[in-house]
Amino acid sequence: MRNRRAAIAAVAGAASLALTLTACGQNSEGGSEENKSGSDGATIGIAMPTKSSERWIADGNYVKKDLESKGYKTKLVYGEDDPDQQVSQIENLITQGVEALIVAAIDNKSMNNVLQQAKEADIPVISYDRLILGTENVDYYASFDNEKVGELQGTYIVDKLGLKDGSEKGPFNIELFAGSNDDNNTRYFFQGAMNVLQPYIDKKQLVVRSKQTALNQVTTLRWDGGTAQKRMDDILTSSYKSTRVDAVLSPYDGISIGILSALKSDDYGSKNKPLPIVTGQDAEVASVKSIVADEQAMTVYKDTRELAKVASNMVDALLNDKKPEVNDTKTYDNGAKVVPAYLLEPVAVDKANYQKAVVDSGYIKESDLK
Ligand code: GAL
Repeated sequence: MRNRRAAIAAVAGAASLALTLTACGQNSEGGSEENKSGSDGATIGIAMPTKSSERWIADGNYVKKDLESKGYKTKLVYGEDDPDQQVSQIENLITQGVEALIVAAIDNKSMNNVLQQAKEADIPVISYDRLILGTENVDYYASFDNEKVGELQGTYIVDKLGLKDGSEKGPFNIELFAGSNDDNNTRYFFQGAMNVLQPYIDKKQLVVRSKQTALNQVTTLRWDGGTAQKRMDDILTSSYKSTRVDAVLSPYDGISIGILSALKSDDYGSKNKPLPIVTGQDAEVASVKSIVADEQAMTVYKDTRELAKVASNMVDALLNDKKPEVNDTKTYDNGAKVVPAYLLEPVAVDKANYQKAVVDSGYIKESDLK
């Protein structure tokens, strides 16, 4: 048992009666009053980035449920994609006496000061899905194999265009999109995809007509679908007057939906102008529906129920003086240290396997896809 826990529990118990939660009614508290084994009813702070995407709503709920099933109480906050708001939410959680923090950062570099406060209060921090950079005060990282996510997207494009195994097919036109530049995952997704795509770009079997190939030319601030739609619109106008785009690398379903809107406004999806292969990530309902409707080609399914379990097991281990389980101690250098990680496996999903992968597994209800 961590030494500070008994003392903190007494102080926090009294303090939590007096403190009101401040973040615009977005907090939720839960958990049983009764202490279950291993937890002593400690309160865990969960800071999620945004409610604008269904995956983060689900992540928050899964983490909360999992911790509560272990006997913890939880305080769950959402930062509305505003880094300053998220930092002050975490400050509040620290003041309210949480005993551990699970954080999916909005801006990975904005956390140094607040995590120093966590350190001083002896609060362990789990970086959830997105690695927090530039501070030693991150204890563990729970995520997926992020480079593999990009590889699955790149491989899907290469396979569907029939480029594999020495085929000389092409040239095909491709455009590249990446995620938010303040999210550490962005470069892993992009790197993974480019590991697969770059050799074909070099051989000119794939051509990026916009010439926007560097990561800093293709990022999408805060993963915003509208921003991606606008960029795709601009690219179609500037580079595709006389020819068609055959594939679009998209790192995330919300971005894919934006890209597809731009394409459809330009008559793609009509009889003589098929939609390009558009990738995605997260198996969000709108995108799985789009896959079933033959629009988005694929997504990368990451079972966030499992991710939530990994994160809450890490907290449970730490608060009981045990070593959390990890399976990667090399990949995730945050600039201050290599953060020990547990990485889960992502799965490519298209029309052929969506039923088995996301419906039969209970991740999405069949009725939600109607
Ligand atoms: C990333 C995450 C992706 C996607 C994206 C946008 O950090 O790994 O799965 O959700 O954020 O929310």
